[in-house]
Amino acid sequence: MKRRDFLKTGPAALSVAPLLAGAAPADEPDEGRPGGKARIAVIGVGSRGTGLLRSLCRLPNAEVVAVCDLYRDRAEAAAKICADAGAPAPKVYAEDERAWREVYAREKPDAVIIATYWDSHAEMSAAALEAGIHVGCEVPIAMTVDDCWRLVETAERTGVPCMMLENWSFRRDNLALLNMIRLGMLGEMMHGHCAYSHYGVPGSYKADGRGDTWRNRYIAERGLNCNYYPTHALGPIVSWFDINAGDRFTEIYSAATAARGVNDFVRREFGPDHPNATRAFSQGDVVTSILKTANGKTIVVNLDTKLPRPYANRWLAAGTRGVYDEEKASIYLDGVSPAAEAWEPWAPYEEKYNHRFWSQGSTGGHMGTDPLMLRLFVDSVAARRPTPLDVHDSVVMSAVVDLSGRSIKENRPVEFPDFTRGAWKTRQPYFALDRRREG
Ligand SMILES: NC(=O)c1ccc[n+]([C@@H]2O[C@H](COP(=O)([O-])OP(=O)(O)OC[C@H]3O[C@@H](n4cnc5c(N)ncnc54)[C@H](O)[C@@H]3O)[C@@H](O)[C@H]2O)c1
Repeated sequence: MKRRDFLKTGPAALSVAPLLAGAAPADEPDEGRPGGKARIAVIGVGSRGTGLLRSLCRLPNAEVVAVCDLYRDRAEAAAKICADAGAPAPKVYAEDERAWREVYAREKPDAVIIATYWDSHAEMSAAALEAGIHVGCEVPIAMTVDDCWRLVETAERTGVPCMMLENWSFRRDNLALLNMIRLGMLGEMMHGHCAYSHYGVPGSYKADGRGDTWRNRYIAERGLNCNYYPTHALGPIVSWFDINAGDRFTEIYSAATAARGVNDFVRREFGPDHPNATRAFSQGDVVTSILKTANGKTIVVNLDTKLPRPYANRWLAAGTRGVYDEEKASIYLDGVSPAAEAWEPWAPYEEKYNHRFWSQGSTGGHMGTDPLMLRLFVDSVAARRPTPLDVHDSVVMSAVVDLSGRSIKENRPVEFPDFTRGAWKTRQPYFALDRRREG
């Protein structure tokens, strides 16, 4: 198919019917349950949880019934946000690190949004599943492979939906590319690249050079050196490469640079005598992980948070018929793009293959992905349907934390567990199916 044909062809003519066979997409609102409200508790109302809460308060089918935080002032401020938005004020639970258990037991919410520190995500999520509460948990949903398995086993046994709130899976550009990949426009997907490149050193060390944040403590107390924040990078990759639905990760090899970035920053800001100017940090500046898949594909995942640089995810997706480069905002489709082996602009394709999730646009946090993702999550809870992302995709993104650490420590490739226990061979893609394209 030539370029002009791709860009002129209407969505109705672009059939991905095989993908769409079977049940309705899990993320479709259930029109058979008008007026159904989802009663939601929010655990952890710091920076992220408060942002999510603001979006929740704008949804007509969400009622925040409880907010919970270690700090009373944060929980009360969160409750006030709901009241100021004209919603009933949620109950406040605070100052007890196990108060969330009371929230589950007393309030019996339909769903919980978890936006606490990393070490509590898996426990809070598993307990919610046991109590029949749908889970929407911040990233990563688990920091160890054992906790990944715990979540899979609990979700499968209880049948309660469990989703990691990976907002970059819902980006407009990433979903338009997903449509194009599902139409076969890039051929068979072979290689991907992605990164979490976000300079975090000034944010945590600028005050006094100590860097005493929960994130830094989490890494230092465990002596970690790993790809500790991989899910924003991997979110779209999992859907582009049909991971858990036709393919799976089989192996990971990771390598880390030495740690210099924090030392250099502290030396410049606070002088050579500050303890962190020379401290030997466990976590390397840049981690590179290579994932292999059962079908012979490779994915490179970078973590890059200690060296000065602008934010980037560096998404690249290469198939047998074309390549997409997010950082260049460009695409090349073999035999379709106007000039051989020359990039063309991505923007017209993003318009043309706009995903149904974005048909009415979305504005707000993280390029509109936060309100969109929460709307889809709440719709699924109100309709008692599966969440837009499932437990298997949630843990496969998160397991990279633990597995990359093992690989770096042992300086060898490490086997990637099959969290679907073989079901990936027959599972069909379910995420973000685009019904408008049913031919
Ligand atoms: N998806 C995204 O774009 C995005 C962006 C930022 C942060 N995050 C994630 O959100 C989570 C929170 O990050 P943050 O930046 O908001 O941190 P934060 O420190 O601002 O907020 C965390 C809150 O959780 C509370 N908390 C911790 N343990 C608790 C417990 N046992 N019970 C009740 N409350 C508890 C803390 O008191 C704090 O207020 C992290 O997992 C982070 O990775 C995701």
